[in-house]
Formats: sequence, structure tokens, C-alpha cells
Amino acid sequence: MKDILIIEDDRTLNHLMARHLQKLGHSVKSALDWASAKEYLAASEPALILLDCLLPDMDGYKIISEIAHQYPVIVLTAYASVQNAVRAIKAGAAEYLTKPVNLDELELMVKRTLDTDTLRREHEWYQRQIQAMGKNAMIGRSRALAEVHALIDAVAAADITVLIEGESGVGKELVARQIHQRSARADRNLLEIDCSTLHHALFESELFGHERGAFTGADRRKPGLVEGAEGGTLFLDEIGELDIALQAKLLRVLETGQFRRLGGTKDLRANVRIVAATNRSLAQMSRDNQFRQDLYFRLSSFVIRVPPLRERREDIAELVEYFLHHLDIRLQVNKTISAAALKQLVAYDWPGNIRELRNVVERAMILSGNKAEIRPEHLAFAASGHNPAAITSLTFDHDPNLDEIERMYLEKMLDKHSGHRAHVAKVLGVSERNLYRLLHKHGLPKH
Ligand SMILES: Nc1ncnc2c1ncn2[C@@H]1O[C@H](COP(=O)(O)OP(=O)(O)OP(=O)(O)O)[C@@H](O)[C@H]1O
Ligand SMILES: [Mg+2]
Repeated sequence: MKDILIIEDDRTLNHLMARHLQKLGHSVKSALDWASAKEYLAASEPALILLDCLLPDMDGYKIISEIAHQYPVIVLTAYASVQNAVRAIKAGAAEYLTKPVNLDELELMVKRTLDTDTLRREHEWYQRQIQAMGKNAMIGRSRALAEVHALIDAVAAADITVLIEGESGVGKELVARQIHQRSARADRNLLEIDCSTLHHALFESELFGHERGAFTGADRRKPGLVEGAEGGTLFLDEIGELDIALQAKLLRVLETGQFRRLGGTKDLRANVRIVAATNRSLAQMSRDNQFRQDLYFRLSSFVIRVPPLRERREDIAELVEYFLHHLDIRLQVNKTISAAALKQLVAYDWPGNIRELRNVVERAMILSGNKAEIRPEHLAFAASGHNPAAITSLTFDHDPNLDEIERMYLEKMLDKHSGHRAHVAKVLGVSERNLYRLLHKHGLPKH
């Protein structure tokens, strides 16, 4: 049963069609003019509208273009003319029907239009699903990323523990999801736990669950993530932050495949694959006794290092392109980026990696307003707060001339990039040869 609105000023015809459609089980609202139809539409959303294009109070074709983006519309025309039909369909009508209306024909057309609309909605739903899956897509064709893909492929099927290393924002979580998706466990759960945000006691019950009465407030048994991820994958994010006492318990699960619920006495079997990620060096931490060495060895049997963005600048253009098309759908934009702006993005060092790139592109899309092209002035690198090292300020106790500014700027940049000439040249946007000339001019060291 569907809600159908009939807008037709011929009372007899309106009534006839309404009765027929009601008999078919639909719920029908009749309107004799556009004013009352509009009133009805303000409060309801019919599944289909039948519209007479010759109404007393409004041009029917205007109405079509107003409502057709939201509702399927069947247009009723007084006489069969190709022109009328073309006009109606062009304005957005789904079908048209000529008067006098044949009720069998009406019935068929209503059914077909409703079916088509259902299909369209389903199609949109699947499109959204596919888009959501696309969120896990790893964009980039650099060799460095190709190696990461190869490692994921190699390890996904093997069902062993994996440690993902890399700076913040490089895509470790994406790698973890890909490992799960490409493994035999893909149709089971992937559960994630952030080791840095959970309190010690909570973490244990979160991970292993607890028995009734295990602690005050534990009024019933609760399974933990290890059980929830049964048959699937458990992703331990920021594993470097894991409390040292909990490290021992995690090690036990990894070594024996067994665990106990908090307050429990039974050893339970864990059928989960552990994937862990860290942006700290576990090797260094274990040397400094901040991370258990045995756990580190256990975790590091297979390591995937996700390289920082500055080691795969080839990926930047493609990532920017991807973000321009896939970021916030609400922005509804189709922007391009100017060569100069892209050059700046490629030259920048991205301490916050892909997350930072994504933010910069998102901000640029907003800052560029209704302009079709993103230009250098729309790029705002996250200089403040996050990354104080990125701030450059030149201070003088007098009004400097250009030469003085140039010299101080060069000194600052050399200092900041530890004298790395190639880097400095890139930041300045000049060739290395030109940089040498500038250094010479100001009597600054060239090596
Ligand atoms: N290759 C890629 N293609 C498309 N998007 C990516 C890619 N790599 C990372 N991203 C996006 O960048 C953002 C950061 O990625 P992710 O959360 O996986 O990083 P992370 O390494 O886990 O960072 P952190 O250490 O801060 O947790 C996410 O929005 C992610 O979708
Ligand atoms: Mg992460």
C-alpha cells in the first residue's frame, strides 16, 4: 500500500481514479487545485503524484519541475500530442497518460512507476554502501605503497599477528582494515580498541570481559572484545600505550590462545587474529624497558611499516584528486586544483601525513568558496597548535629592507631544515642552483 496524491480539477475523473486506486489497496488523497495539493505536500510525502497539467491556479509544467526531483509524477494530458508528452517528460515527469483515462492503463502505469521508484531507491542505497566501502580504499600508486599492499596480501591469509608501524595519520587503521578484508575472516567482526584511551581496569574487562560479581557494579557476566571478535580480527590501536601489567595478559593470549574473563576461573579459547598498530618505536621502548621485550618479539614477527607521506610524494596528486571528489558530499562541488597550489602541497613535509593533507584539502574546498579552482591562497597549512615547528616568523627591531628579510629567511630555513639544501630549495620554490646563488650573495655557508 502506498500514499498517492491526485491533483486533478475534474471532480468526476479525480473521484474515479481515486476509487480505483483505493480498491487496489493504496491510500489516496485527492486535490482539486495546486493550492490544496501544496498544503497537503507540506505535511505529507506521497509515494506517487498524478498531475493534471491544466489546473485552474497554476501551470502544470511549472509544477512538474518543482516536484519531480522529489516525487515520481505521472502527468495527465487532455489530448494525445507528442509535444505535450515531450514537454512533460523533459520537465521531469516519469510517465504521461492521456484522457479519457483508461483505468487498466492507469493501474499498470502506477504499478510500473512505483516499482521503478523502489528500484531507484535501492540502487541509491547500494551506491551509498559501495561508497562506504570505498572509504577503506588506499589511494596511491607509489612504489612505497605498492610494497605495503604486497605485504598486506602476503600476510592477510596467513592468520598471524601483525604489527603496523608508522607516524600519525599515515593510514595504519586503513591497513588494519585491509588485512581483515583480505583475510578468510572478512565475513566476521573486526573490532577495534584504542589502548591509549582506556583506563587500566576498564581495559581488562573490555578486552576479556568479566564474570558476574567480578567487581562492584558487575551485576552480570559480560563478554569482552576477544569474544566479540570471535572468528574475526581484533585491532589494538596505539599498542605502545598499553599498560605494562596488561602487556603480560595480552602476551598470554598470544602465546596460548587462551584468556580468562575478569573474576573468572575458566580458561577460554580465543579465536581472534590480533593486528596491532603503533606510532612509537616499540623496539626503542622495549630497549628502554617501557615495553615488554617478549611481547615486542611476539608482535613483531610480521611488521608492516607504513611510510610517511613525505617519502611518497608521488601519491600526493592522486590523494588530492581523490579528496576533491570524495570529501563531504554535502559540499556538492567539483573543484580542480591549480598547478601552483599542487606544487605547494607536494613540497610540504606533512608532519601529520595523510590526515593533515585531507584537512588542508577540506579547508581549501571551503575557503575557495564558489570558485572552481583551488589556488595557493586557499591553502592553510596547520602551522599553529599542532606543529609549532612549522611556524616561521621573522622579527626585526627596525624596519628591514628586502635584503635583510631575504637573509634572515634563508638563515631560518637552513636552521629549520638542518642545512638540508634540497629541502630548503623546495620550500623556497627555487632551484638548488638559485639557492646557492642566494647563499653566496649573503655570504652564508654553502655546505
Ligand atoms: N592511502 C590512503 N588513501 C586514502 N585515504 C587515506 C590513505 N591513508 C590514510 N588515509 C586517510 O587519512 C586519515 C588517517 O588515516 P588513519 O586513521 O588510518 O591513520 P593512522 O596511521 O591510524 O593515524 P594515527 O596514528 O593518528 O591513529 C583517515 O581519514 C584515512 O581514511
Ligand atoms: Mg589510527
